[in-house]
Amino acid sequence: MDVVLTLADRSNWRTMVRPQLKPEQQEFVSPPAWSLARCHVRLFSDEFEHLPHLIYASEQAVGYSTTACNPASEHDYWIDDIMIVAPHQGRGYGRAGVIETVSMIVRRYPRCRAVQLTCFRERHRREVVHEPGVRRDRSG
Ligand SMILES: CC(C)(COP(=O)(O)OP(=O)(O)OC[C@H]1O[C@@H](n2cnc3c(N)ncnc32)[C@H](O)[C@@H]1OP(=O)(O)O)[C@@H](O)C(=O)NCCC(=O)NCCS
Repeated sequence: MDVVLTLADRSNWRTMVRPQLKPEQQEFVSPPAWSLARCHVRLFSDEFEHLPHLIYASEQAVGYSTTACNPASEHDYWIDDIMIVAPHQGRGYGRAGVIETVSMIVRRYPRCRAVQLTCFRERHRREVVHEPGVRRDRSG
């Protein structure tokens, strides 16, 4: 499954804030406009580079991922949100989007030794993602 990441900018940001989830999934991630705002205000801190990317498959936007990464660190590399729009779920785009996002992080930040994923916002549960597998790490 081939997907391509494209940085969200003034030319395409409306595409990023349009996607919708199934109602039962809406507690899992921030609304897309919030994800974009978190990048804009550098929510993690000024040490982190916050990047919003659209996920494209066959030149169609199928979702997005946002990352917050501290290039000076070895382990502070976070996939803050990842989302595949409801009609395109279940076709492998989510898995491909995670792999492409991890690959982008590894290429962009030479010091990176681990990529972490925040998920289940209401439970504050976190997982550490190691390509190609996923290791459950800490919860709190
Ligand atoms: C999670 C999400 C990104 C997966 O995208 P997707 O395109 O449907 O996933 P894929 O088709 O690539 O499936 C990948 C694997 O994840 C599994 N999976 C997908 N959604 C899942 C869910 N909600 N719970 C458990 N497993 C799930 C699939 O069964 C598949 O596993 P398999 O290959 O062993 O069958 C998408 O459902 C989504 O946007 N969900 C709402 C937002 C969210 O929860 N984001 C993650 C937290 S930041």
